[in-house]
Amino acid sequence: MEKLQPEPWRVKVVEPIRRIERGQREARLRDAGYNVFGIASEDIYIDLLTDSGTSAMSDAQWAGLMRGDESYAGGRNFYHFEETVRDIFGLPYVIPTHQGRVAENLLFSTILKPGDIVPNNTHFDTTRANVEVNGGTAVDFVIPEGKQAKGRHPFKGNMDLERLEACLAGNPGKVPVVMLTLTNNSGGGQPVSLQNVRGTRDVCRRHGVPLLIDACRFAENAWFIREREEGQAGRPIREIVREIFDLSDGCTMSAKKDGLANIGGFLALRDEVWVERLKNKLILIEGFPTYGGLAGRDLEAVALGLREVLQEDYLAFRVGQVTSFGEALAAAGVPVVEPIGGHAVYIDGRAFAPHLAPELYPAQALTIALYLEGGIRAVEIGGVMFGRPDPRHPGKETLPDLDLVRLAVPRRVYTNTHLQYVAGVVIDLHRDPAKLRGVRIVHQAAVLRHFTARFEMV
Ligand SMILES: Cc1ncc(COP(=O)(O)O)c(C=O)c1O
Repeated sequence: MEKLQPEPWRVKVVEPIRRIERGQREARLRDAGYNVFGIASEDIYIDLLTDSGTSAMSDAQWAGLMRGDESYAGGRNFYHFEETVRDIFGLPYVIPTHQGRVAENLLFSTILKPGDIVPNNTHFDTTRANVEVNGGTAVDFVIPEGKQAKGRHPFKGNMDLERLEACLAGNPGKVPVVMLTLTNNSGGGQPVSLQNVRGTRDVCRRHGVPLLIDACRFAENAWFIREREEGQAGRPIREIVREIFDLSDGCTMSAKKDGLANIGGFLALRDEVWVERLKNKLILIEGFPTYGGLAGRDLEAVALGLREVLQEDYLAFRVGQVTSFGEALAAAGVPVVEPIGGHAVYIDGRAFAPHLAPELYPAQALTIALYLEGGIRAVEIGGVMFGRPDPRHPGKETLPDLDLVRLAVPRRVYTNTHLQYVAGVVIDLHRDPAKLRGVRIVHQAAVLRHFTARFEMV
């Protein structure tokens, strides 16, 4: 286990949390149809549902909110935001949005035509949806190691360059952009190496296709590069970040992750060609280009957060905290995806509960048990999220390769003691997996069913 890092801050404001009684937790689960999305956050003790928009802001960010300039056009916070993005990412055209998926929506609704293909290491679900809704096909080319829970490849988020090359060679004129997601959220929060960013850029260059980065967790990815990649040890994080984006033609960003803010995002580009069309669409769906769906104060919080996230003591603690948490579970024999990713620990549901058939959604069963036993909220990323009715076998489903539970760690929110508590609950359940009961879906929506599905215990 890596040496535990103390938090590089002291606490100034506290928000009480409470663990309601077991009987009440049981009732909340029943009322929510055994779907933890349906439980009020006040009834959650430790909330590891997501690391998105859940960060704690610093005193400087809270002070920045007071400096919000809420003018419709030309507010000072926009210029600070724009200058910060240019300085860190080196991308001159900066378009603010209220979250990451709007940057994706603007981009793909502007540049895609029906029949186009967009390759990525792995599309996040909103990215995929924005490609598909605009008539494109989203294809994932993560390396084979990135699809295995086991195996300690240091950069399981890497793009498979041979498959990318074959795709671009075989589809001339049909690939308007290649995306690369740092870190690879849908693949376990695994990083991409700098060498792989270079390789991806070279393939794109050869075929004259721009490379855009999904930058949500760019700072965590840069930290892994410094820690794990040959020749990168000791390099300033700012320099690594700059090299990554110098290799790109732009990025989409959800500032709800490595922007250390509760809302915000942007699209940043090197070249002017798409900018006018993008800004016109922005005015239609978000707002004037100097606020893009955000209040001036939110732009200020993001501008400050983007600098704070690059502080090396912050990153050492952040990645160290998630790693220590995951390694404590692994050391106790809990089947986790390894190596531990940047923002979350992923547990293999089928290996955790081998007594449950995959059709009984073992990862969902673990999600339910975590709340019942410990008041902990996690999210299922497996059969419920990605399973689809099997057209050849009515009543059956095609299930994904992996059935995972994600314990996402919000930034600067929970202490190491909170995570030790969570680890204790997981380890106790792992010793007594019979406490996990399989479930059946009794109600589901046609799309994105995991948010609202209802279950019954089998
Ligand atoms: C890799 C990745 N891309 C895009 C998004 C979308 O960002 P947002 O939730 O701000 O729309 C997310 C959000 O979780 C993400 O993890």
